[in-house]
Amino acid sequence: MKHIISIDISPCHANKIGPQHGFTDIEFKELTKSIKQYHNVLIKEREEKKYGFFELYKDKATHNKIKEISSKFLGQGIENLVILGIGGSALGITALNTALNGTYYNLLSKEDRKGYPRLFVMDNIDPVTFKRMMKLCPPQNTLYNAISKSGETAETMCQLLIVLQELENTVGSEKIKEHLVITTSPRGENAPKSLLHPIADKYGITQLEIPLNVGGRFSVFSPVGLFPSAMLGFDIEALIEGCAEMDTLCSNDSLENNPAYKFAGIHYILDINKGKKISVMMPYSDRLKDIADWYCQLWAESLGKKEDIKGNNIFNGQTPVKALGATDQHSQIQLYREGPNDKIINLISVENQNEVLLVPDILNEISELEYIRGQSMNDLLLAEFQGTKDALTLSQRPVIHINMKEISEFTVAQLLYMLEVATAMAGKLYNVNAFNQPGVEEGKKIARQLMLEIKKNKV
Ligand code: PA5
Repeated sequence: MKHIISIDISPCHANKIGPQHGFTDIEFKELTKSIKQYHNVLIKEREEKKYGFFELYKDKATHNKIKEISSKFLGQGIENLVILGIGGSALGITALNTALNGTYYNLLSKEDRKGYPRLFVMDNIDPVTFKRMMKLCPPQNTLYNAISKSGETAETMCQLLIVLQELENTVGSEKIKEHLVITTSPRGENAPKSLLHPIADKYGITQLEIPLNVGGRFSVFSPVGLFPSAMLGFDIEALIEGCAEMDTLCSNDSLENNPAYKFAGIHYILDINKGKKISVMMPYSDRLKDIADWYCQLWAESLGKKEDIKGNNIFNGQTPVKALGATDQHSQIQLYREGPNDKIINLISVENQNEVLLVPDILNEISELEYIRGQSMNDLLLAEFQGTKDALTLSQRPVIHINMKEISEFTVAQLLYMLEVATAMAGKLYNVNAFNQPGVEEGKKIARQLMLEIKKNKV
């Protein structure tokens, strides 16, 4: 196995931070039993195809289709790829892009982008941002990818209508299919009606499918994340291999040896038994900061539930928070060390940052700079990570340490897949349905009603 990510839960043990805040051996033993039991439930439900996210990496036919369609569009000389989508339809590709292309990717020259398009993820309906994107991305050399599993999300529909009109006015309706790809649920009797289907039919637009048993926030390895990935030149095979490798690691029922179960189990036990109601995700790399954002949605929307699976009111959920090392050491760490001891802090370190930046050996007359002169920025980042980790332990704060050897398609896929499996297991431990989101629906209904009223009042 190459570049496997590792997860260390020992800083959460009572022998490091005391039994009031850390897990004890007895608690771990109990947890081991529950995990074994829920592992069997998950395996059974997986076999019954209740959750499709586990198997997405095995879908060769879809991967081939994605490769074929992306090479066709890349051959057309597309300069900009614009995603129209929100929530689970946007956060996955944002996380992959930041991790694999790095910050400021859109500002690089075409040559430095190796000929691949710039990426704009439109995951909001802020008119100023959207107008600016339209100005920066002339439709003639832009490919839009409208992504919506339900095919009815108001924000995405609003964006799409604006883009369709713009395409009609610029390239003309005949050529819309050369500038738009639709990713939505499949057609069929048992499938919900997606409004994107009639739009695809009207203009002859290529359509990619999100399997019905894959929820938005678990869809990063479906065409939702993989088609844009192919358009950006990411190594799809390495992403698939990373998922496969992590699936193997996560397919045993042992809490000790299963990284996803360790993550889920420790979060659960420290929440329930030690009052750790907040889960901070703090990578020490700019490139992983949007993975923290993606994690926040996954953990919040999956586990934040009013009812348990039997319908009892339990108001469950740990609040996920994103932070960035070292930046947020100068913003959040004061609170994490000295404020309420109600958090688990997940720190992600990266051993090899792909590039090394040396600090010049200058200004020898200033002795206070001795510790940094002639060293590397990489070493400072790792030292800051280690310092934060140790300081948190000194203050009896539970830390889970995730270490990545490097950031690549292979390791990033492992991390995302591991967190998805962890979320599925956490759902079982908390006894909630991790795959629905009833709490989001009410606000949507009210907004739609309001829009209709505004229209009526205008007439
Ligand atoms: O995880 C989820 O299910 C949600 O966050 C959805 O992804 C989000 O609401 C967008 O839904 P849709 O893809 O149907 O437009």
